[in-house]
Amino acid sequence: MIYGIGTDICDVRRIRASLARHGDRFAHKILSEAEFATWQARSARWPERGIRYLATRFSAKEAFSKAIGLGMVMPMTWRLCEVSKLPSGKPAIVLHGVLKDWFEARHLSAHISVTDETDYAASFCVVETQNP
Ligand SMILES: CC(C)(COP(=O)(O)OP(=O)(O)OC[C@H]1O[C@@H](n2cnc3c(N)ncnc32)[C@H](O)[C@@H]1OP(=O)(O)O)[C@@H](O)C(=O)NCCC(=O)NCCS
Repeated sequence: MIYGIGTDICDVRRIRASLARHGDRFAHKILSEAEFATWQARSARWPERGIRYLATRFSAKEAFSKAIGLGMVMPMTWRLCEVSKLPSGKPAIVLHGVLKDWFEARHLSAHISVTDETDYAASFCVVETQNP
């Protein structure tokens, strides 16, 4: 049964501006360790790909925070919510620490979808529960 849904749209230009202002510190605040490594590799090859990667992660995490009904309030934090990729290319939510504990205690599972176009990144998240 559906526990919650969440959506978010992110202006890629704002992400670009924040990166220009704060550099790696901004990416470090938003990304998990694994995401940060991916971001650094992508940015090194092509900075614009790094910006788009960060924008889709930003919107996916906000969409997830809405689907679980918390918003960006503990135990929901940027870095404890990771958006990884399955071998097929499909994104998947991987949680860490207290957020993982909170999520598993409620027997929840998440589905995430992301997209981006020139100036916007958007995400949609569905969270299911096994406990009606
Ligand atoms: C959810 C949140 C991450 C979105 O922030 P944002 O990017 O600035 O705003 P967005 O336009 O993407 O989303 C806003 C919408 O998120 C939704 N939203 C807000 N809190 C939410 C929550 N806890 N769970 C699910 N959805 C929520 C609302 O529909 C809101 O629309 P509204 O302003 O018309 O009511 C942020 O508002 C948040 O962390 N909220 C919870 C913490 C908080 O502020 N609490 C104060 C309560 S008094």
